[in-house]
Amino acid sequence: MEHLAVIMDGNGRWAEKRHLPRIMGHRAGAEALDRCMHYCKAAGIRYLTVYAFSTENWKRSEEEVSGLMKLLSGFVHSKEKELLAEGVRFRVIGRRSDLSEKLQAEIAALEEKTKAGDFTLIVALSYGGRDEIVRAAMKFRGGTEEDFANCLDTAGLPDPDLVIRTSGEQRISNFLLWQSAYSEYYFTETLWPDFDQAEFDRALASYAKRERRMGGRLTK
Ligand code: IPE
Ligand code: IPE
Ligand code: MG
Repeated sequence: MEHLAVIMDGNGRWAEKRHLPRIMGHRAGAEALDRCMHYCKAAGIRYLTVYAFSTENWKRSEEEVSGLMKLLSGFVHSKEKELLAEGVRFRVIGRRSDLSEKLQAEIAALEEKTKAGDFTLIVALSYGGRDEIVRAAMKFRGGTEEDFANCLDTAGLPDPDLVIRTSGEQRISNFLLWQSAYSEYYFTETLWPDFDQAEFDRALASYAKRERRMGGRLTK
């Protein structure tokens, strides 16, 4: 597998179960992301895309939105050394113009500094698949599917092989609509902050058993 994508869902429920504020769930979720990146590297996966904030998540309370934005800018601020040391290339997809100018500038700087990394972490931020497709359509001058794909935020990245969604929800919630045309899906009841090596291994084992026909014939 070259590219794993994750809908990191269930942070709020994880916190509520513990009678903690939702933002504590998001903090625990950020730690789960750190761990997941290491599982991916150890498994030889070269691209990890994570859904961190959707175009619809702006509808949440002002308190939760500002807490999440703080967490995200804290990540961009504090991770430079670690990403460089570990050879991680950082990239953001989504409607960047929704973010503060300061955060936009910090993201661009981190992308530039880490561009030599050979493992790519793609963070979907103020991301919606429909929004991405509409923005791509504005740039598209006609041509092939490949030409269109080059107008998307994910230009140059391979499509995800597997999409994992945690927390028991079985829907796509506007994630990578174009790119996941032939992705496999794995759903688990585990809440994102509890996602661990055993859960990761189960997802990969499930993927390994599948036959991806991409519209062709069954080969067995
Ligand atoms: C996912 O966790 C993270 C974001 C959407 C930012 P949620 O916050 O959606 O957690 P639940 O679904 O309420 O448990
Ligand atoms: C999807 O989760 C977005 C992220 C994980 C960032 P949501 O919790 O926002 O999705 P819905 O509302 O359950 O579909
Ligand atoms: Mg949710």
